[in-house]
Amino acid sequence: MSDMTVQEMQAARVLDGVAVAAEIKAEAGLEVAALKAQGIQPGLAVVLVGDLAASGIYVRSKRKTCAELGIYSELLTPDESVTTEEMLALIAGLNARDEIDGILIQLPLPRHVDTRRLLEAVLPEKDVDGFHPVNAGRLQTGRPALAPCTPAGILEILRRSEIEVHGKYAVVVGRSNIVGKPAAVMLVNASATVTVCHRFTPDLARYTREADILVVAVGRPELITPEMVKPGAVLIDVGINRITDAAEVERLFPGDAARAEGFQKRGSTVVGDIAPEAFRLASAYTPVPGGVGALTIAMLMQNTVTAAKLRRGLVMG
Ligand code: GUN
Repeated sequence: MSDMTVQEMQAARVLDGVAVAAEIKAEAGLEVAALKAQGIQPGLAVVLVGDLAASGIYVRSKRKTCAELGIYSELLTPDESVTTEEMLALIAGLNARDEIDGILIQLPLPRHVDTRRLLEAVLPEKDVDGFHPVNAGRLQTGRPALAPCTPAGILEILRRSEIEVHGKYAVVVGRSNIVGKPAAVMLVNASATVTVCHRFTPDLARYTREADILVVAVGRPELITPEMVKPGAVLIDVGINRITDAAEVERLFPGDAARAEGFQKRGSTVVGDIAPEAFRLASAYTPVPGGVGALTIAMLMQNTVTAAKLRRGLVMG
């Protein structure tokens, strides 16, 4: 601990991703209604290959949210054995259809499929995941149109919670193309000073304990322990890790009745990458569940509406 004692610290503020997501979805819903009044219904195609349980859950949730907001959605489920060539043909078909504004290829894809090639085959203006190199390049050069949903959600919850990013020191742990790298770019664009750490960073704590804003997207429970956090920091936990061992749940959340009850009911509980003890040192943090995860789908809805407008010249690209 540095210059603050635990007694001197304010209780950490919980950044409620579900509430912020509801706000964003409500705004997207209003935009959908306005577009419909002009005879335009935004449309999203979701491509789900194989039967990974987690992917199935995400996809159902994405389509349910589309239905709630009045966005047309379509599910395509090629067999696990689909080839790269067949996927390219499917994407070309979706690129050509006027009623489809957004194309989402749920990741991960089976190993025999060339994921990179497929993501590059999606028309950049229909790339609601923001994974196409053209959109990554636009983001890098400060011309964001369609940005990756999870990091966009992180910046959005910071903005809507009135947490200053400008001039702050942000550390991002994890360098994936989906979260870590674009999150770092967005934080730089918002005038933070940014360090990106990853599995080959020696002495990770040296960086994390200096961070005003710490974003962790690795997928390892308790990667960040209390000693690695600066008191008063803002902690953004992107990790989604399922715990199935009752003793582990009791160790991580001693006396937490709600956790214990959820675990009893489902046989598992979801935790992030930051130890629950470390959250107590923060000035604000996103919980798991109920933090960043909730925002990803809301940002996907927003991107789908933006894509529908972009394609019709109703918004600047
Ligand atoms: N798999 C995990 N996260 C994502 C995401 O944001 N988009 C897609 N398409 N697949 C994912």
